[in-house]
Amino acid sequence: MTGKRILLIIGGGISAYKCLDLIRRLRERGASVRTVMTASAGQFITPLAVGAISGDRVFTDLFDREDEHDVGHIRLSREADLIVIAPATASLLARMAGGLADDLATAVLLASDKPILAAPAMNPRMWLNPATQRNVATLQADGVRFVGPNSGEMAEKGEAGPGRMAEPLEIVAAVAAMLAGAAAPGPLAGRHVLVTSGPTREPIDPVRYIANRSSGKQGQAIARAAAELGARVTLVTGPVSLPDPRDVDVVHVETALEMLAAVEAALPADIGIFAAAVADWRVAKAAGQKIKKDKAAGAPALTFVENPDILRTVAARGPSRPALVIGFAAETENVVELGKRKRKAKGCDWIVANDVSAAGGAMGGDRNTVHLITAGGVESWPAMDKAEVARRLLLRAANHLLQTQVAV
Ligand code: CTP
Repeated sequence: MTGKRILLIIGGGISAYKCLDLIRRLRERGASVRTVMTASAGQFITPLAVGAISGDRVFTDLFDREDEHDVGHIRLSREADLIVIAPATASLLARMAGGLADDLATAVLLASDKPILAAPAMNPRMWLNPATQRNVATLQADGVRFVGPNSGEMAEKGEAGPGRMAEPLEIVAAVAAMLAGAAAPGPLAGRHVLVTSGPTREPIDPVRYIANRSSGKQGQAIARAAAELGARVTLVTGPVSLPDPRDVDVVHVETALEMLAAVEAALPADIGIFAAAVADWRVAKAAGQKIKKDKAAGAPALTFVENPDILRTVAARGPSRPALVIGFAAETENVVELGKRKRKAKGCDWIVANDVSAAGGAMGGDRNTVHLITAGGVESWPAMDKAEVARRLLLRAANHLLQTQVAV
């Protein structure tokens, strides 16, 4: 970003405070940052703080004679390589979509022919309001790009859902991609996708464990496809003999309990996909030392306790539940019927049911035959590569979020 000039328009929302970090991060990467604050932004952070961090004047007033004389709203946009709006409030988006120029921020935007990136932030109900969604669609059609909003807890107590401003580093990544001339972000840009994958290993003693035949291929293919479609991806994986996929945050775990802890630590996410073959039981008390053969005592008896059901636990979470929770059902018979039952029992939105009988070759193989089970019915997909299953599933998920008006 060295030498690039960013014009940051700060809207009036509580997440305006994150702009101080955003400015710092952009400048760290060699960009210069000039700022315009709307009148309401001044209710949340002061021009003094913004000016101190940006190392430049802060522009606030369309009719400020000095500002207009020195720079002017036309020059402000002309002298930028890219304009970032953060937080892009519902009101700012509406005024932009309507082509208004009733303050310095909107006048600059209307006068600009530069690439514009908006990082929306607002209450989830405001975001989901059809008026806001219409405005976002209009702005997208006008070429404005969006990063976020993310889902999660709001500043208002007890409120959660889509509307949190993307984190400064996510905004920086989107800026970098735009400056590099990257194509429009994929359909999952600004989304966080959490994937579990692989088997778990439940120890018996320090050298022995119980595991299963899961290869982790399908889960990894899902993580890779999500990253390719623009998502930030966290992959929580049990032990597999595959290299970590690129552009994915990989968390390696062994046991079901570790997997649950890693999943909880990675939340919130917009989409949770649970492809891991989690051991249903673990040995109640794994031996601290290697169990020795003892002729007199005979074969040791193992006592098991049930592992937590990670999918069910996440699906039952309140406000921090991902907007779309997808489980897998590995079955060897009655695949669709058992998959439907599993969808209900687990409380998830979708189930990808697959035949893991030896004949299907799904376990460990490169291909998979799956049925997508949703509240609306069952779709049986033809046999295809696990990478293709992953891509199709993620595209369906991105579309679903769009239709439920949670996405940009
Ligand atoms: N799953 C999970 N945590 C567990 C068990 C399963 O998250 N402790 C998830 C799997 O990742 C998968 C789904 O639940 O998405 C279904 O797993 P499956 O093993 O097919 O079903 P079970 O719940 O184990 O039921 P059963 O073994 O009786 O078929």
